[in-house]
Amino acid sequence: MGGERLADIFDPRTYARGIPYDTFRWLRDHDPVTWVEEHEVLDWPAGPGFWAITRYDDVVEVTRTPQAFSSRLGATQIRDPDPADLPFIRRMMLNMDPPEHQRLRRIVSRIFTPRRVEKFAHDVEERARRLIDGIVEHGECDFTVQVSDDFPLLNLCDVMGVPESDRHLLLYWTNRIIGYQDPDHAEVEYGPDGKPINPRSPAALADMFAYAQELARYKKEHPGDDVISALAHAQVEGRGLSDAEYEMFFFLVSVAGNDTVRSGVPGGMLAFIENLGELRRLLDDPDLLPTAVDEVLRYAPPVISFRRTATRDFELRGKHISGGDKVVVFYASANRDERQFTDPDRFDIGRTANDHVAFGDGPHVCLGAHFARLQLEIFFREALWRLRDLELAGPVDRLTSNFIAGIKHLPLRFTPASPGR
Ligand code: HEM
Repeated sequence: MGGERLADIFDPRTYARGIPYDTFRWLRDHDPVTWVEEHEVLDWPAGPGFWAITRYDDVVEVTRTPQAFSSRLGATQIRDPDPADLPFIRRMMLNMDPPEHQRLRRIVSRIFTPRRVEKFAHDVEERARRLIDGIVEHGECDFTVQVSDDFPLLNLCDVMGVPESDRHLLLYWTNRIIGYQDPDHAEVEYGPDGKPINPRSPAALADMFAYAQELARYKKEHPGDDVISALAHAQVEGRGLSDAEYEMFFFLVSVAGNDTVRSGVPGGMLAFIENLGELRRLLDDPDLLPTAVDEVLRYAPPVISFRRTATRDFELRGKHISGGDKVVVFYASANRDERQFTDPDRFDIGRTANDHVAFGDGPHVCLGAHFARLQLEIFFREALWRLRDLELAGPVDRLTSNFIAGIKHLPLRFTPASPGR
């Protein structure tokens, strides 16, 4: 990667200053398939390096070609897993290739349907209202800490059927797994060899899995409308999920369904504050809310990147990718590709033909997209109409991560909406 002005798109600390869109634009224009070094960072050892894919068309091609770009070989995180953990990590649907992936995807997509999720819309609405009630008269708050951090977690608990009293456990687990690169969340445990234990290894996840099994046992006897009750009885081709498949699905959803929406909510609030004209446009025309939600996802994507591994040699944009190479698709960059989106740096809540890749593409396209959109729409409908004259009341504090574009603190100032406004 040439040029001193370019940000280091591997270093998780880069993203604590915001997504480096200028660098991504330069790469799309000059070096769209570029080799990136993986230096030692934050106690984690150096890696072999990877190909960064930054253009929309290439990101779509890579994600739609699992025969050449595997989710299984090296799994889907930039940092290489410990080879000893790979067989375990590959039991997760996210880290499988067709045809194995299809069997699991069929089982869970029959359960995770828009219809099931919509049954919880009323609870999601009530929750959004209560959270805004809690701050609206104060005129100021740390929006993430006081309002939005709990929102997706509690919604997820409803949908999964996790009892109220256990909800803090889910938050603890996701912070440990996702936030490991961030000094505020990192609770790095060290093994006997003095090396950090991968938070995604079987040893580090034993407590979560034991809990998941206990919950499934309970749901078999006391079934509800929730996803875990349905999973406990799910069958495809005469076979349900094995214990290991179920545990990994619980783990996947707990993480995938939490920090993503948790980042999308404040990311959206910030996009509206930085584009007050678009906020006014929405308040004047609430019918724009569905397109506004998709524009939030394109403009402020919660997921920055995902990893694949080349199964064979592949030519892309004149670069020779060798079998075994790590390939990282930058969804955040693809969403700003001027070859795909008109005026991509403009936040336009009425944007149509908004075919963004915030939810990925290909066989692994997000299973929770409907639930995510539903939560964002309900949340913005509640927050934006009740909190007026929105402005930042201090600096935005972002997560140190090259995976999730999280916001840890979002200090906001506002006035409560007066009746009729
Ligand atoms: C705004 C919120 C969300 C965003 C931006 C998002 C983004 C993504 C992306 C980019 C992928 C593709 C991974 C890849 O390329 O390999 C994905 C997969 C997935 N997401 Fe989401 N997600 C969100 C919310 C959710 C929610 C709420 C759930 C569930 C409750 C969920 C469950 C999943 C699952 C299970 C997969 C794996 C699908 C598979 O491997 O077939 N996501 N998500």
